[in-house]
Amino acid sequence: MKVIVIHGPNLNMLGKREPGVYGNLTLEEINKKIRLRAAEVGLDVSITQSNSEAEIIDTIQKDDYDALVINPGAYTHTSIAIRDAISSVAKPTIEVHISNVYRREEFRTKSFIAGVSYGQITGFGADSYLLALSAAKNILSGG
Ligand code: DQA
Repeated sequence: MKVIVIHGPNLNMLGKREPGVYGNLTLEEINKKIRLRAAEVGLDVSITQSNSEAEIIDTIQKDDYDALVINPGAYTHTSIAIRDAISSVAKPTIEVHISNVYRREEFRTKSFIAGVSYGQITGFGADSYLLALSAAKNILSGG
């Protein structure tokens, strides 16, 4: 069972970027935790980060995975193209956010991704990704 994790725009800046909102962990530190959790729950994982909407869509369209965990960053609130890509591949998708988008600016409460996702995990810091991996394992195991 293979899961891909996509980190969207500006998430390469974690650690430096608004630590009061996103915490102090760097993306590499979060990725280490993701790899550990994937191994614990018995998932193969491939992790990518991109600031480009087109590259994110190309990754979603690759047919070499069983479930998708995606933090689309600001594209959450703008990208019908990423939404359409997720619909096209019809793989179980979990939308992840580090911050609780519902406790922030109003524009962050609109997600184009939520309506094509199995579920959304928001506000648990880096743990949002780890919760998503456990959820992906359950979904792929039929539970
Ligand atoms: C984010 C929330 C988005 O609103 C924001 O644009 C991000 C990060 C999060 O993980 O909390 O880049 O997706």
